[in-house]
Amino acid sequence: MSSPIIAPSVLSADFANLGRDVEMINSSNADWFHVDIMDGVFVPNISFGFPVTKAISKQAKKPLDVHLMIVQPERYLKAFKEAGAAGITVHFETCPHLHRTVQVIKELGCRAGVAINPHTPVSVLEDIIAEVDMVLIMSVNPGFGGQHFIENTYKKIKQLRALSQSVNPDLFIEIDGGVDVKNVQQLIDAGANVLVAGSAVFSSANPKATISELKHPEKLQTL
Ligand code: DX5
Ligand code: ZN
Repeated sequence: MSSPIIAPSVLSADFANLGRDVEMINSSNADWFHVDIMDGVFVPNISFGFPVTKAISKQAKKPLDVHLMIVQPERYLKAFKEAGAAGITVHFETCPHLHRTVQVIKELGCRAGVAINPHTPVSVLEDIIAEVDMVLIMSVNPGFGGQHFIENTYKKIKQLRALSQSVNPDLFIEIDGGVDVKNVQQLIDAGANVLVAGSAVFSSANPKATISELKHPEKLQTL
C-alpha cells in the first residue's frame, strides 16, 4: 500500500516565525501545506486570509491545500486560486449549489474538495462523489486545532470508500482533526489517504521526525 499524503496544518505554526515553519515543511517528508481559512461565521474562530496565504505560497515548495471554513465560499474561489491554492475544499454545509461550486473550482484548474462536518452523513455526497477530487471528513468540529479525534470517523471513512469505489476509485479521502501517530495506521486501514496534522506536528519536539512517522507508520510499528 502506498504512503498517505501528509498535509501539516499551518494553523498550528508559529505566525511570528512563519517563514521558518514553511521552510521546515519544505525540507520535510510532508506533501502539501494545509491552509485553514476561518471566517468567524461558519466556525467560531477567525484564522487568516489572503496576505498570509500569498506569503506562504511564495515560499512554499509544495502545493497549498486550502480548506475554506467560510460562508459563501463561491465568492472567494478565484481569489484563493490567485493567492496560490492548488486545491480548494469547500464545506457541504455552506454550499446550496455545491455542484456549481465544484465545477468552478475545477475550471480554475484546482483540485476540488468537499468537506463534511462530524454530524453530516457521508450519504449526502452520493450525487456529487463522481465530480470531486477529494472529500475531507472532519474528525473534530471545525474551528480550532488541538481537539480530540472523534472515533465515529473510522466508520465514515469506510462508508465513503465503499460509496466511491465504483464511481470514483481515485478519490482522495482526507482526514482533518486530531490526527497523530497513534491513530494514523487505523485511518489508513479504514481507507484514508490524505492526513492533516496541526498540533501533532507543531507541538512535537521534532516536527520533521513526526511528519516522517505519519508518512511511514509501518516503520513506527516495528520499532
Ligand atoms: C480545524 C482545522 C484543522 C486543524 C487541525 O478546524 O480544519 O485543519 O488545524 O489541527 P489538529 O491536527 O491540531 O487537530
Ligand atoms: Zn483544515
